[in-house]
Amino acid sequence: MTSFTKNRILRDRYKLFSSLGRWAKRNDRDEVWFFGAGDCRRILAGKKFTAKRGGASEKARANGSESLAKFYDDWLMFREDRTHLIMKRIATKAIFARLKELRSSIPTYGVSYMVGSDFLSNFSEKYVVRAFATFFDIDEVELTRILQATTPAIDILGLENICIDSLNEAETKLQECYSILKELRERKNFVATLSDAMIGQVQPITAMNVIINLVADGIHPTVSALCSEVYLRSKVDKYNEDDRLTGFRFYEEAPFQYIARRATENCEIGGRQIRADDRVIACIAQCSRMGEQDLTFGYGRHGCPGRMLAETIIREGVNSAEHHIGEYDDIEIDVEWAASIGYRVPIEMIIRKKND
Ligand code: HEM
Repeated sequence: MTSFTKNRILRDRYKLFSSLGRWAKRNDRDEVWFFGAGDCRRILAGKKFTAKRGGASEKARANGSESLAKFYDDWLMFREDRTHLIMKRIATKAIFARLKELRSSIPTYGVSYMVGSDFLSNFSEKYVVRAFATFFDIDEVELTRILQATTPAIDILGLENICIDSLNEAETKLQECYSILKELRERKNFVATLSDAMIGQVQPITAMNVIINLVADGIHPTVSALCSEVYLRSKVDKYNEDDRLTGFRFYEEAPFQYIARRATENCEIGGRQIRADDRVIACIAQCSRMGEQDLTFGYGRHGCPGRMLAETIIREGVNSAEHHIGEYDDIEIDVEWAASIGYRVPIEMIIRKKND
């Protein structure tokens, strides 16, 4: 089994950060990394830390891309105000309203082959998109269009030096996304009902953003966790039958290895002095691995509203995959992980028959 120790995190971090080059400015950051569950919880629940990330919206505004700037201002994960509470409640409500129904309706993805193919692109991505489409009552083509239209805007969040061309492309694509969502509203399906319920309380554009947040925040970690779950199951010598039915292993390769926050005032965590504006890192994957507490889905006011949905999709997806794969004893899996320490996602996963 792949171990994700403190040393490994630091080694990967060093490798990644030194390969980014000076433009990323990451080496200048005064970050403190916390590994204990108690400290991580204090960071994630504490009022003295904010998830708000500056930069992208200011740059978009300066570029004249007002709707893109508003999109970043309304990103659920970056808000800390009353609108966050409203949006979060709506997101949670929407998920729970559909969950029961979804549990009995996620389709089995019929692949005629599994062994030897790329599990990530031929199964996992398709399976999760299909399940999300069911969740939103739309078809896979529409869901993929929403996802593709939002990707350029989301990619910008990971960049520290944003070029004007990327901002313009993101703005154009975002408009495309809003018009898809508008069309969906007019068709009075689940997405429409959901956004109508929101419009009384928040601006229509904010309502649209909740939907984008759910799609964009939900699909990629679920794809990653589905891959990890199958990979890790194949690694254990003998899978515990109880675990197979009820438990998950994907937290051992959790999609989000850490969560970053910024201090809003001077404080102390784990005996370390933190100054206002310092960036601190809660290494949630390490706590989960050490069995201290499962923080794979975060904690506190920004904790993941999609946990049960993700677990439902992963459980069904694994069952479907196992049906095609057959016995784990007969296969071996090659996986190549993305070169990111923060996001644990396979970029390729090939399943082979042993001795082939
Ligand atoms: C295995 C799959 C998933 C994992 C590991 C995961 C993990 C997380 C974590 C760690 C956070 C907290 C981030 C922070 O505090 O900064 C988060 C937040 C969030 N997740 Fe998930 N997530 C998963 C699936 C989903 C799904 C399926 C959805 C939606 C349908 C979703 C929607 C969200 C949203 C909207 C937030 C922001 C919540 C807020 O800021 O209040 N996630 N997720």
